[in-house]
Amino acid sequence: MKTKILKDVYTEAELASSMTSCWAGRNLVFFKETDSTNIQLRRLAEAGVPEGTLAVACQQTAGKGRRGRSWVSSDGDGIWMSLLLRPGFAPERASMLTLVAALAVEQAIKQVTGFSCQIKWPNDLVADGKKICGILTEMSTEGQDIRYVVIGIGINTGMKEFPREIRETATSLELCLGRPVRRSELVNGVMCAWEEFYGQFLKNCDLSILRDAYDCRLVNRNRSVKVLLPGNEYTGMARGIDDVGQLLVEMEDGQVRTVMSGEVSVRGVYGYV
Ligand code: BTN
Repeated sequence: MKTKILKDVYTEAELASSMTSCWAGRNLVFFKETDSTNIQLRRLAEAGVPEGTLAVACQQTAGKGRRGRSWVSSDGDGIWMSLLLRPGFAPERASMLTLVAALAVEQAIKQVTGFSCQIKWPNDLVADGKKICGILTEMSTEGQDIRYVVIGIGINTGMKEFPREIRETATSLELCLGRPVRRSELVNGVMCAWEEFYGQFLKNCDLSILRDAYDCRLVNRNRSVKVLLPGNEYTGMARGIDDVGQLLVEMEDGQVRTVMSGEVSVRGVYGYV
């Protein structure tokens, strides 16, 4: 008997018919090519599209990474998508959403492909010591209120070659699995997992319920990390996160420092992880 090979068909129709989530990704905006799904979704959010709207692009010409970096997002090579939220909690809590998204992507990859990734604090997904997914959360506020949050997710699915600058630190699912991934199935998996984890997050508007799940997947856990602050750096042992997603780093004298995401960068002592 012949084995049926499932092709990675990635069209608006295919994506729409793959969705089984309740609200996340149910209003789909699909681009063959765009500058950045984060930019487009911010524009749509200003125009009033509902929570759960998902902007997906086959290709981004100006993909944005964290810290003002660009994000390589060529046609056919990955999932480039942004999800819109309109939460009622305080803006200070929004940075935790990136950690929730990392959990959702990890679970979806596991469920859809069987492959286990790990999380590099706060929100990179890594496989074989290299980055496979990045998340960029952007927010618009008004006074003490959130107007909207855009969670941009980039998953390298089909990339086989990388630009020189990221060759040592980036990989793709296809390279890890040795076979292609059906992106529409994975997009749906991420949206379903997002609904599950976000539901848990909303119970206390923090990571208290998700903390153990996160720590289990944390690649840095019980490893030496270098914390790079502007104009200062120190080394310690990463122990996990606290209820608000700060990294707990134990110093040699036993004192535990909390590291907030933002301008801080955490590296392995010998490299990226
Ligand atoms: C990082 O630097 O790790 C974050 C990368 C985030 C990339 C995604 S791809 C979809 C969305 N649109 C963007 O322009 N960026 C995010």
